[in-house]
Amino acid sequence: MEALIHSHAMGNVVRSGLRQKQKSLPSWLFYDEVGSILFERITTLPEYYLTRMERMLLCRYASAILDHVDRGRSLTVLELGAGSARKTALLLRAALADKRDVSYQPIDISAQSLEDAALHLAEELPALRVQPVLRDFSETPHPASVRLHDDARGQQMLLWLGSSAGNYEQQEAVRILTAAAAGMEKGDHLLIGLDMAPRADGKRTHHLLEAYNDAAGVTAEFNRNLLVRLNRELGAKFRPKQFEHSAHWNAAASRMEMHLVSTVAQSVRIEALEESFFFQRGEFIHTENSHKYTRENGHALLCAAGFPVVAEWHDPDVWYGLFLGERS
Ligand code: AVJ
Repeated sequence: MEALIHSHAMGNVVRSGLRQKQKSLPSWLFYDEVGSILFERITTLPEYYLTRMERMLLCRYASAILDHVDRGRSLTVLELGAGSARKTALLLRAALADKRDVSYQPIDISAQSLEDAALHLAEELPALRVQPVLRDFSETPHPASVRLHDDARGQQMLLWLGSSAGNYEQQEAVRILTAAAAGMEKGDHLLIGLDMAPRADGKRTHHLLEAYNDAAGVTAEFNRNLLVRLNRELGAKFRPKQFEHSAHWNAAASRMEMHLVSTVAQSVRIEALEESFFFQRGEFIHTENSHKYTRENGHALLCAAGFPVVAEWHDPDVWYGLFLGERS
């Protein structure tokens, strides 16, 4: 029953996305079981610096981050799109080292990832209380809101790491954060990891292009896997080889965009929708936006969500940033 409801919702999303003049599909569709594994592989690619840099920043600055949190109170850490929570463990370990009573509520749409996170955290940090929440935090009108488990006491810190906020337009990201932080109080914190925009005197556009066009072709496979998923779950008849991976920099919107470009004129049937969709040769499906932030825009994002920035940490060349805000 749940699977039926799920694919029904998915069908609606796909139908409206492919009926548009400019075809597009939401990037959360990437993350089926195979897609989640492919993304984990992306995070280990030499070109994909984002994960490495964020891990380095969390490792180096975990205790500086926790200096902003009250040592005397218990702490609840909530994480949007927690995935396997490997990097978060660095922060949680530092929190536990302060002998705080620490709870962790990873929120994710992948049951597989949540299970994996719970398993390895139980092993690595046995003193941690883990309360996984299986939910799509971006969905309207019912997003995650903090205090999902209302035994959550003490101080709260909401995490949105991995540059995931970059998948959304800024005002959509603010909407998600506002909803998720509805139960948070003055003095609670928000920690966001953002990939920084290229600059004339630092990170260059070609570094971004390489990160989304890796030599091993894993990102291309990740992109095309979306079609494989539609074939399996909606009875679609995509031939993934007839769609090319494309990732380019949209300077005006300060974002990387991923597309799937049809290499031939073709019509693709989707059984579950009882509909066929026509593609011109060269026509594409827009599959992802990955917004890149300036420091100013990072501050604006947190501020708009009600958490003015109290500290930020970057690598020396400012390729990546962690922004900490405090509810005022
Ligand atoms: C998980 C959304 C942060 O945008 O960089 C990786 C996903 N897309 N390679 C990103 C992704 C292509 C990633 N986020």
